Amino acid sequence: MSKQRVLSGIQPSGKLTLGNYIGAMINYVALQHEHDCYYMIVDLHAITVPQEPAALREQSEAVAALFVAVGLDPAKAAIFLQSHVRAHAELGWIMTTLSYMGELERMTQFKDKAAGKDAVGAGLFTYPALMAADILLYKTKLVPVGEDQKQHLELTRDLAGRFNHRFGETLVVPEPFIPKVGARIMSLDDATKKMSKSNPNPGSYIALLDSPDDIRKKISRAKTDLGREIVFDPAEKPEISNLMSIFSQCTGKSLDEIQKDYEGQGYGTFKKDVAEAVVSVLEPIQRKYADIRASGEIHRILKDGAERASAVAETTVREVKEAMGFVLPARD
Ligand code: AMP
Ligand code: TRP
Repeated sequence: MSKQRVLSGIQPSGKLTLGNYIGAMINYVALQHEHDCYYMIVDLHAITVPQEPAALREQSEAVAALFVAVGLDPAKAAIFLQSHVRAHAELGWIMTTLSYMGELERMTQFKDKAAGKDAVGAGLFTYPALMAADILLYKTKLVPVGEDQKQHLELTRDLAGRFNHRFGETLVVPEPFIPKVGARIMSLDDATKKMSKSNPNPGSYIALLDSPDDIRKKISRAKTDLGREIVFDPAEKPEISNLMSIFSQCTGKSLDEIQKDYEGQGYGTFKKDVAEAVVSVLEPIQRKYADIRASGEIHRILKDGAERASAVAETTVREVKEAMGFVLPARD
């Protein structure tokens, strides 16, 4: 594959989970070696639901440090905060004006987040238009995300096409880049729901900063299907299939290999091995995370990332405004 533009983002709300890592971050790291990558902490998206200021600040720095801890190299990938690059808010507004109410109403993430609430923020509704702006600003080709973001990517593709059709070829139509195994890591207590940091039961997810003992406890208590065979069958055996996906991504073994290795063995042995595999992936990440937080380096990394990102984003906004008929400010 030739060098492509890559962009993705994660919300700084709550703790990141093993689902974020397997569904998205492993690919962030893999893509940085060959491609031109931009990874951001989407703080403007986080405020679509109420955020406590101190928590938002802490979580934003924590996610930035985790980006580096999982193996992103700031010399290769630009790591930045969405709010540091003003072009996001600007193109976000423009994309809001290009979006239809009907297409935003169909977004399942919106429906889930709005369900049962009396007051639903307008920002939650227009969230996907801002996400489209995030992606289109960088003329992005590949967007590494988990399965749940596919629908937002489809909307982004539609908006790019709509813009180009109305105003002339300006924007690149992006594609989702979704892992073959682990695109949707499920809750440990209920394999019909995705693993999520917003689940009130901490036993349902593994946070990237959970202690090894907590990880072992959570996996040993994870719900398992009836029967005792270790076979990959998400329809019939969703819980064991979920643990197999986790094990596969933490060890590099294929699902077939895992199935063969554990033939005739029960869930108990398998769960112990899954727990050790997860611990051995997360322990070095946690050590590196502690070092980065202690060093205070993160502010310099974010400043440098925002400068690199702004240079690209500003150029696109100018092209977009020019194509739409805005009078551009004179250049000095
Ligand atoms: P979020 O935490 O919602 O900002 O998600 C950040 C990234 O992690 C997105 O690309 C999601 O698709 C991905 N992600 C979140 N939860 C999961 C999960 N349970 N399984 C796979 N990917 C996930
Ligand atoms: N909506 C994404 C999520 O909830 C986060 C996000 C915002 C994002 N902007 C993005 C992901 C741009 C990829 C590209 O996970």
